[in-house]
Amino acid sequence: MPKIIITADLHHGITGLHEIVQLRHKIAAENPDLVIIAGDIGEGVKRIDECLREFKTLTCPVGVIAGNHDLWLRDHNIIRDSAHLMDEFLPQLVRGHGMHWLETEDLQIGDVAVTGTLGWYDYSRRVVTKDTIHLTTSDYQLIKPRFNNDGNYVRWSDKRKDVEFANSLGEALETRLAKLESDPRVREVLVVTHVPAFFEQLVPMAGDHPIADSYFGNLTLGSRLIKYPKVRTVVSGHTHREVPLQSIRSAGREIAIATLSSDYRAPKYLTLIV
Ligand SMILES: [Fe+2]
Repeated sequence: MPKIIITADLHHGITGLHEIVQLRHKIAAENPDLVIIAGDIGEGVKRIDECLREFKTLTCPVGVIAGNHDLWLRDHNIIRDSAHLMDEFLPQLVRGHGMHWLETEDLQIGDVAVTGTLGWYDYSRRVVTKDTIHLTTSDYQLIKPRFNNDGNYVRWSDKRKDVEFANSLGEALETRLAKLESDPRVREVLVVTHVPAFFEQLVPMAGDHPIADSYFGNLTLGSRLIKYPKVRTVVSGHTHREVPLQSIRSAGREIAIATLSSDYRAPKYLTLIV
């Protein structure tokens, strides 16, 4: 049974290199068959690169997806916009370190396939109150800078909408899942997402703002995943709030879900035996 370790939200640059090194030592000591970094790797491309350099010393394969922070446009001298990061710079950086860009490339360990996506938010998780019931998805995007720094630092030259971006990632993931579903060599599929895909992966807390919460989930993604019976486990990051591995019922079937509890300066990981 393969041992797969998933970490996320390392935020190198806020989290120090010594903490990343400590994490890598702990992960290496577990002797995993595969390690996944599920987004929000570092603050700026230099920090992302440093973090990946640390993980490339692991002897097992490493799969990587981007997080929303990884698409912040901060390096204007080498990065054109967030699409440049997502579609070109980050995949090339990851592959250049001998790692796997899970947004477009599946991994297989024995008869377990692993794939993933950043996910993004499409406002399907919005909390409806008397103050928010009138807000459209375009409104949520327009007011985002007041509630989430993606609104200040993610820049699309093509002016794409959050819903469009989220749907394009979800559709591409479904194409990969359909192939895995019909592949007789695959017993089950682990999906790793940055943005959580199921309501049960989210931990509301007193004091949370109903608008800010809308940037923390993509429940449409969950409804896509549940259609594929081989998808047995979904692990996500992004919220920094732990949901331990547990089985839930969704659309008439059981699926295991978890959300990682990594936080700034406190990186964590989850070990799965699948
Ligand atoms: Fe995030």
